[in-house]
Amino acid sequence: MQDKTRTVSLSEIEEQKGYMAAVRADNEWFAAENGFRRKAFVLTLGCQQNQSDSEKLCGMAEQMGYEITDKPEEAYLIAVNTCAIREHAEKRALSLVGQYKHIKAKRPELVIAMCGCMVVQEHRINDIKHRYPYVDLLFGTSSIHRFPELLAEKLKCKRRVLLSDEKEYVVAEDMPIRRESTYRAWVSAMYGCNNFCSYCIVPYVRGRERSRRKEEIVAEVRELVEKGYKDITLLGQNVNSYGKDMGADYDFADLLAELDGIEGDYLLHFMTSHPKDASRKLIDVMADSKHIAHHFHLPMQSGSDAVLKAMNRKYDFERYIGIVDYIREKMPDATITSDIIVGFPSETEEDFEATLSALSRARFDMIFSFIYSPRKGTPAAEMEQIPDKVKSERFERLLALQNSISLEANKPLEGKTLRVLCDGRSKNKAEAITGRTEGGKIVFFDGDQSMEGSFVDVEIERGDTFALYGKIKK
Ligand code: 5AD
Ligand code: SF4
Repeated sequence: MQDKTRTVSLSEIEEQKGYMAAVRADNEWFAAENGFRRKAFVLTLGCQQNQSDSEKLCGMAEQMGYEITDKPEEAYLIAVNTCAIREHAEKRALSLVGQYKHIKAKRPELVIAMCGCMVVQEHRINDIKHRYPYVDLLFGTSSIHRFPELLAEKLKCKRRVLLSDEKEYVVAEDMPIRRESTYRAWVSAMYGCNNFCSYCIVPYVRGRERSRRKEEIVAEVRELVEKGYKDITLLGQNVNSYGKDMGADYDFADLLAELDGIEGDYLLHFMTSHPKDASRKLIDVMADSKHIAHHFHLPMQSGSDAVLKAMNRKYDFERYIGIVDYIREKMPDATITSDIIVGFPSETEEDFEATLSALSRARFDMIFSFIYSPRKGTPAAEMEQIPDKVKSERFERLLALQNSISLEANKPLEGKTLRVLCDGRSKNKAEAITGRTEGGKIVFFDGDQSMEGSFVDVEIERGDTFALYGKIKK
């Protein structure tokens, strides 16, 4: 792909609306003939950005007259929104699509679409073209707004529509969104990434950084707050560099400060931050704010300066821990979480031990830890790799240490009363009601389903490694 970025014009969006109307007319006719609507199933793999994109896919499918279902076997349209961050995610997408082949055997009318990060890569496009003939539609992250056009073409011409030469990265506004939740929402602040960390595929599959206009973001957040949304997360691969691509005279901290001025009872989160751009100004704005959650997700990746350099992360541990210390100084109640990769090529036992001591020093509330997965086309994939056995052994040691730190971080919460946004009955523990604290910690408590979507005060009785347990404060 080339590095062009562009805002999709209103007339292009209007054109897509025309295609939506055409597909809708066909689906209305089908419903009238058969007494039921055709259904669409969207499967999402990967990160929050993908979840947000899927809400747009569902929004468009709904406008096109489909009923959204969570049962692939009853669908007439299946879209798999893929992820490319690790090999596991790619394998999963391919195996799921393989299963959908059997549904298509029973219902040949079924249209199977693949989109998202995995299917922007040339080797994957070729793979799907030749080895997955039952995939009808294929389009990348920059063509999501063209879903109606591509689907209409497939339905009309009865042939596969596989995009393979997407030449630009776009920002598209005014697309229908079908939000999964009535109280938690994603709002994209920017798309893409310019950092080229040597292990990461994202800059290749999501393109260069491009920010949405501040007015659009403010209007979207205001509308959500007015509708009663309680928890709004601003998304971007690297939200801290918001505005730089537009040459704006305001930055991410200014955007947050402006959003914080919106009246209402809600919390604002953001992710993900790159330590090289996490400014003191941003932390000061958070500390002084009314609505910005005291939660910082700050991926460290490694505690070894040599590995950080090889990863092209542009900071060392000293700079990193300086930010953590400043967050704690300004917001002693802040929850700090991080991402760690183990088994990056060149990581020695000493490097790994540096990561362990960095965890002991930083004392994260929680980490997301990953075994390094080579990504075709990234510099680290060309380096000498570490044996799988060493990687998984280090991974286990990392988890054991972090588990004890998480437990130590949660114990002092016993006896405290925390404000929790209730998510209703737990899917895993049917007897408990669940929710999340301002910092995103899972809480199980008594209470009832009617509390879903509201803030409740919970007195914490037990702080465990992965969750807190408590009772509604009377
Ligand atoms: N292998 C393992 N983990 C990775 N991540 C990104 N690329 C890779 C890779 N190739 C992790 C990083 C990032 C998180 C979203 O995924 O830790 O912060
Ligand atoms: Fe990937 Fe690094 Fe960009 Fe994050 S900052 S998306 S890890 S390249």
